[in-house]
Amino acid sequence: CGITGCISNADITSTLMNSLSKLEYRGYDSAGIAVATGNGLTVAKQAGETDGLRQSITANEPVGMLGIGHTRWSTHGAPTDENAHPHTDCTGTVAVVHNGIIENYDGIKSELQNNGHEFTSETDTEVVPHLVEQHLKDGVDPLTALQKVTERIDGKYALAMVTTHRDAIYVARNGSPLVIGVDDSARYVASDVPAFLEHTKEVIHLEDGDVAVLEPETHTVFRDGKSVSLEPTTITWSTEAAEKQGYDHYMLKEIHEQPDALASAIKPRLTSENAVVFEELDQSFFANIDRIEFVACGTSYHAALYGCQLLNARGIPAHVHRAGEFSSYPAAIDERTLVVAITQSGETADTIESIHRVNETDARSLAVTNVVGSSIERIADKTVYIHAGPEIGVAATKTFSSQVATLSLLAAYLTPTLGSKTASNSALLSSIAELPTAVDTVLSTADSEYVAQTLVNRPNRFFIGRGVGYPVALEGALKFKEITYEHAEGFAAGQLKHGPLALITPESAVLVVFTGDHDEKTVSNAHEVRSRGATVIGIGPDQADGPRRVCDEYIGVPSLTPELSGVLTNVQLQLIAYHCASALGRSIDRPRNLAKSVTVE
Ligand code: G6P
Repeated sequence: CGITGCISNADITSTLMNSLSKLEYRGYDSAGIAVATGNGLTVAKQAGETDGLRQSITANEPVGMLGIGHTRWSTHGAPTDENAHPHTDCTGTVAVVHNGIIENYDGIKSELQNNGHEFTSETDTEVVPHLVEQHLKDGVDPLTALQKVTERIDGKYALAMVTTHRDAIYVARNGSPLVIGVDDSARYVASDVPAFLEHTKEVIHLEDGDVAVLEPETHTVFRDGKSVSLEPTTITWSTEAAEKQGYDHYMLKEIHEQPDALASAIKPRLTSENAVVFEELDQSFFANIDRIEFVACGTSYHAALYGCQLLNARGIPAHVHRAGEFSSYPAAIDERTLVVAITQSGETADTIESIHRVNETDARSLAVTNVVGSSIERIADKTVYIHAGPEIGVAATKTFSSQVATLSLLAAYLTPTLGSKTASNSALLSSIAELPTAVDTVLSTADSEYVAQTLVNRPNRFFIGRGVGYPVALEGALKFKEITYEHAEGFAAGQLKHGPLALITPESAVLVVFTGDHDEKTVSNAHEVRSRGATVIGIGPDQADGPRRVCDEYIGVPSLTPELSGVLTNVQLQLIAYHCASALGRSIDRPRNLAKSVTVE
């Protein structure tokens, strides 16, 4: 979910609505605002995307100088008007928006109902305004009331609250992200910076346990009950970077931003002599490490699989875990283990929880993220940034490429200390230097639209690959299903014959990722599906006679070292998924049921 709030000396409703649109990548099941109008609180909320709410309020837009807003990704309760935030108390004098899950809401709700409180939604959130109402009735001020509520509720939350008792926005953070934006005569609060980037780049990142009060020209943050003075930091992302800039979708824009994003990740870290420099790191941090365990979710998990192969190839023991499993089934880790968390947003709850688990041990942790000031940075021992710029499309694209590039550099950086004596990085480093240009070539010559057409109207599609082609196959299938809503599965090429081959029919399409390494084996796998009637589409290096012969269609990419060729084939798969989703008329930037940043476990 995305939460936002604004308090200023001027009307804030349109600012609030714009912030909600910017936060929709966090959820779009419903949208709502509460504005203090001078005549009490006006709440407008409904199921569906922010644009629907915008249309509903145009004729009667609330006018006020402070308000809060919410865009929802449903957890407790269906995406209905009633369950949309903000939620209010019985008197309508307290309104609250919430991101996270209040685990003990059930007991609190029964207790409040026994005390005569009437509930109108199925959400966990609604207990908060009712609890605040009770404290206000006891005569405490809104800040104290919110502080008391945070002592009562368990779980993860970012909360923003307005009341008719005082012109201020009250916020609290515990485990879900929350940032304050500071302007001359306005204060903003949001789950993420793009919500208010057009107004200010001066931000304060709240920590877990913080409670804050915002007024137009001041803000006070309370930590451990005492007010603390925190200097804002300046965000370097440009306002334009978070806009569509003429593209039909953020996803397409972000696919096309990959050459620049890659250059930002690579150039500062690769010297003209092909030496790797990580200013954020120090080789001593890696002293005595004998293995690396990756934790990640979704696309970041696929980048971790890719990075893991690069480390293993250099004699550095490494494994990959799905972060959602790590806390229930943790790997055996000790003081010689480095756990690397890969997360674009730095906010994914499963990944954050994994690092909390690591922090209970003697193992070290490193975060690889795109978002400066994100939660992961606060809990990991060290952080490396991928510098991809803001990614708004729910389906991750440029951040996958930048993650892989950063992990490639990290593999090369760690080889002298942790790798085998015979490992060589020269081909990898020369190809990393060429990567931005090679991706640019893929984008300027891409003609995959016709292939996308052949993938519509099929019962299934399989993506297969070997070596680094395997995580690319998984990522290609994930991208495809995320935005087309059509069935697609990724497999290791050699795995098909051990079961999935039973699913192949003449209606199936099989997309085969070639890398230039072990391609003859992958060609055999392509023969296996072709002989059963499937349409075979190959994606791989331009110079590849064997692969070209076995495929019905073949999409070529420039030749790089096989270890990095997967980044190029992945760009083609991104475009194939995009064109297919476009042909099917899907909601490409906001696919159904998904959210970019999932801050609940
Ligand atoms: C969600 C998104 C995915 C993303 C995953 C991990 O599931 O829908 O696109 O890959 O979270 O996100 P992270 O920010 O941790 O990389």
